[in-house]
Amino acid sequence: MEQLQGKHALVTGGSQGIGRVIALQLAAAGIRVTVNCANNPANAGKVAAEITAAGGSADIYRCDVSDEAAVNRMFDDLGKVDILVNNARLDPWRRTADMSEGEWWDMVMNINLKGCFLCSMAFFERAKNYGWGRLINVSSVRSFRPAEMSMIAYGVSKLGMHGITRAIAHNGAPFGITANTVSPGMVMTENLTARISPEKYQEECSAVPLGRPASSEEIADAVLFAVRNGYVTGETININGGMYYAP
Ligand SMILES: NC(=O)c1ccc[n+]([C@@H]2O[C@H](COP(=O)([O-])OP(=O)(O)OC[C@H]3O[C@@H](n4cnc5c(N)ncnc54)[C@H](OP(=O)(O)O)[C@@H]3O)[C@@H](O)[C@H]2O)c1
Repeated sequence: MEQLQGKHALVTGGSQGIGRVIALQLAAAGIRVTVNCANNPANAGKVAAEITAAGGSADIYRCDVSDEAAVNRMFDDLGKVDILVNNARLDPWRRTADMSEGEWWDMVMNINLKGCFLCSMAFFERAKNYGWGRLINVSSVRSFRPAEMSMIAYGVSKLGMHGITRAIAHNGAPFGITANTVSPGMVMTENLTARISPEKYQEECSAVPLGRPASSEEIADAVLFAVRNGYVTGETININGGMYYAP
């Protein structure tokens, strides 16, 4: 198992939900964490404050991961980043009625997939000089299951992340860089808790063989595993209560 004290992790979209808990757990393992977000830096500040209150080390960096110049600036500003967790996403329920299919597709792909690509490339170019690196892409069980009509762009964007994982795993292996995908099923984040009705909650749970959603902690645990274990690369850690195989 790897010595993680003194490593530096960037968690994109670390200001809430699963990303927040990933940031907290990385910090609890002795890793210095940069919490990224684009829109609500106050939330990122709260996560960084939680980490420092618990004795960890954290800062925040506001950057839209779909903006190439901003991403490159972020990596230049942050210095050595040993661990990149591509977790940021466009909330798939943010689509407004006036948005065309093409506009929505571009918006989803820009943040979810182009954002992951840009951060991965900037990370790889720098990490290959360090001889050690960990890339974790947070995908979704929706990569593997037929999407509802309204979720096609989201599912495709998440599926694309697996291609980035494999390419970075292959090209990064000679440089000591591993890359893996963590692919959650239903996760009860604060967003989902606020949005879902009791009836919908029951309906969603009935599609999960284990009968319940995951906690963000269970997802973060898989991220920690991929960081600690230097011999797992190019893999997908499916963590979805059985949704992957369920009919
Ligand atoms: N929740 C689930 O049930 C579930 C299931 C399967 C997979 N996942 C995956 O798990 C990950 C986290 O999901 P979540 O539910 O925790 O998401 P979430 O609550 O919607 O949070 C998304 C995060 O991304 C940030 N973000 C949005 N646009 C950004 C941009 N352009 N640049 C940088 N950051 C940006 C948001 O902060 P700002 O708005 O402040 O920028 C926020 O911190 C996602 O990749 C998602 O696809 C979630």
